Parts: sequence; structure tokens; C-alpha cells
Amino acid sequence: MNNIKLVVLGTGSVGKSSITIRFVHKEFVDKYDPTIEDLYRTPIEYNGQIWCLEIMDTSGTEILRMRDLYIRNGLGFLLVYGINSMGSFLELQQIKEQIVRVKEMKASDMPILVIGNKADLESDRQVSSDEAQQLCAKWGVEFMEASAKTGMNIDSVFESVVKQVQDK
Ligand code: GTP
Ligand code: MG
Repeated sequence: MNNIKLVVLGTGSVGKSSITIRFVHKEFVDKYDPTIEDLYRTPIEYNGQIWCLEIMDTSGTEILRMRDLYIRNGLGFLLVYGINSMGSFLELQQIKEQIVRVKEMKASDMPILVIGNKADLESDRQVSSDEAQQLCAKWGVEFMEASAKTGMNIDSVFESVVKQVQDK
């Protein structure tokens, strides 16, 4: 069985762990428990084959050197912000640049998906879909809004990255 290594990146409390746990265990935990690092393994079917997804759920307060390591080992990247936090959206710029530097590739040539999480918190929205869509178009990467709470688009974001890993 072939492994596909994904890395979930983004600043603190945007929902990296919640997205991963929703996908792997189909459940949502309301309680906030900051991550140090967690590795999840789960099978996924794609193109009639079973692949083992290895999902590295990183800490939002990652020191840059550690993040270099995760990026070097990763094949696909989920960049998460919260639609209710402009700061978390602006942080993605730096993370994207770090991936480009470590991998020595253009963002558009890599399997990268930006996730606007907490889409259920519409009344607290600080980042419009249009704004995020425009930035991702500029970078040449895919974009989806999702909610770990409701489950909206959670399977789709992982399917999309796996597809990109296969295609790029
Ligand atoms: P660090 O590990 O500290 O970097 O945080 P994280 O990005 O892993 O965030 P985590 O998944 O722990 O979620 C932080 C808080 O946001 C928790 O209280 C979650 O229940 C909540 N949360 C996560 N996803 C969603 C969502 O889609 N909607 C809502 N309403 N809350 C969410
Ligand atoms: Mg976490």
C-alpha cells in the first residue's frame, strides 16, 4: 500500500486538529486542546486503489525549524485559516513562502489547498470568500471553505489534495 503524506498547517486554534479528527474519526470535539504534534493514518480509496493517508497535524505555534522538517517530509499541504479571523488568513502568506522556499518549487506546481474553516460561523466572518479566492488564484492554489463542526467539505478537501498529489 502506497503512502501519501499530508501536512496540516496554520496558526493556533483555526481548527487543524478538528478538521483532521472530523475526517479520520467522523466526529467533532468542542473542547480546545492545543496540539504539539499528532500523526494520523487512514486508508483512502482513489482511482480504484487504496492508499494510506498519513496526516501530520502540526502545532499552531510551530517554531520555524520544525515546520521546515514537516514541509520537507510532506507531499501535500492543507493551509488552514478561520473565516472568523483575518489574522489567521494573513499568516498563510508566510507559511506559503516557507513551503516554496523549502521545496524549491512554485506554489502552483505543488499540491496545496487553502481551507477557510469555521464556515458555520457566518455571523463572525472577517474574511470574505472572494478575498480568499482571489489570493489563492494569485498563488495558483486551490481554495475551499469548510467546517469541522458541521462536516461541510471535509471529505472534499482531503480528496482534492490526494487528487493533486496524484496529478502534479
Ligand atoms: P492548535 O493545535 O493549537 O494549533 O489549534 P488547531 O488549529 O488544531 O485548532 P483546534 O482543532 O484545536 O480547534 C480550536 C477550537 O476551534 C476548538 O474549540 C474547536 O472546537 C473549534 N473549531 C474547530 N473547527 C471548528 C469549526 O469548523 N466551527 C466552529 N464553530 N468551531 C470550530
Ligand atoms: Mg491542533
